[in-house]
Amino acid sequence: MLRVTASKQDIERELSGLLLDWYDSHARSLPWRAPPGENAPAPYRVWLSEVMLQQTTTAAAAPYFRKFTERWPDVEALAAASEEDVMAAWAGLGYYSRARNLIACARQVVALGGFPKKETELRKLPGLGAYTSAAIAAIAFGERAVVVDANVERVVSRLFAIEEPLPTSRKTIRAKADIITPDKRAGDFAQAMMDLGASVCSSRDPQCLLCPLSGACMGRAAGDPARLPVKPPRKVKPERKGAAYWIEREGKVWLVRRRRAGMLGGMRALPDDGWSAQADGSGNPPLEGEWHPAGMVRHVFTHASLELSVYRHEGGIDPKGDGEWWPIMGIEDAGLPTLFAKAARLVLV
Ligand code: ADE
Repeated sequence: MLRVTASKQDIERELSGLLLDWYDSHARSLPWRAPPGENAPAPYRVWLSEVMLQQTTTAAAAPYFRKFTERWPDVEALAAASEEDVMAAWAGLGYYSRARNLIACARQVVALGGFPKKETELRKLPGLGAYTSAAIAAIAFGERAVVVDANVERVVSRLFAIEEPLPTSRKTIRAKADIITPDKRAGDFAQAMMDLGASVCSSRDPQCLLCPLSGACMGRAAGDPARLPVKPPRKVKPERKGAAYWIEREGKVWLVRRRRAGMLGGMRALPDDGWSAQADGSGNPPLEGEWHPAGMVRHVFTHASLELSVYRHEGGIDPKGDGEWWPIMGIEDAGLPTLFAKAARLVLV
């Protein structure tokens, strides 16, 4: 319990102790983690997990993390892998620029002789922004880094009843997170904040009665913590239309590789009509011939949602340009991103 007579500063200092005590008995068991208070996991595992967890839930990332660490157990193994294999193994996780940066980063780390230990040095590596470099510095190397992800933003906004809306409140949130970050166990503290945000201090339905910080929470004291953080008005996403084409011959389907720049860049895919986040597709198939509608797939990207009509063609046409005939029986191994995997399922059911 917090002392009633404690000063504001004392209270802020005690928060990390309360949270770490809670973490010691409530930490989630996750495949990339060491149990609370134990030696840090290998930096490779921390880095890989944190890159996977950018924009992805722990439940979705966990099977990919297991698959990657079995196949490429250390950074040297990953650096030696082909870009094609890594992109295919990443298929389904989304935000594919992460996979391209992952390979570039692994190669740079090997050239450096290992992961740098400092947040400022980590920040220079491909794909590592403010959050990820702070998380790796704290979790893998015990540096007192201030780690702020969306969960931490929520917890801190409530704890200090920050009324400023996101994203302008980010500076204040960071300053407050800095105040409560302890000198010791910074990695456990960061993960404790994430766990608290993911479970007890949830977005819609905070469980304040279970919260180790509720006694000090100004958002709770103000009566309606779920209101915080104040979000900016939602932007309407443009709705794009496009088409994808299934060209089949003798048990094989024609797959292309997408241009590196642009959505799903570098991934294997069905040919399409050139849709993008900025514009609808042309509606023109890549070849003359008879095309049969197979149905429609909807997919939501960060900057647009897409309605993709899928057409199939069976017969003698010979696609032009780069591509490969892929055995339909082995389509699961093609590493198609989710959008095209959904399109394939539509044709194959
Ligand atoms: N989200 C991002 N990094 C995480 C971690 N290390 N543990 C749990 N959730 C996370």
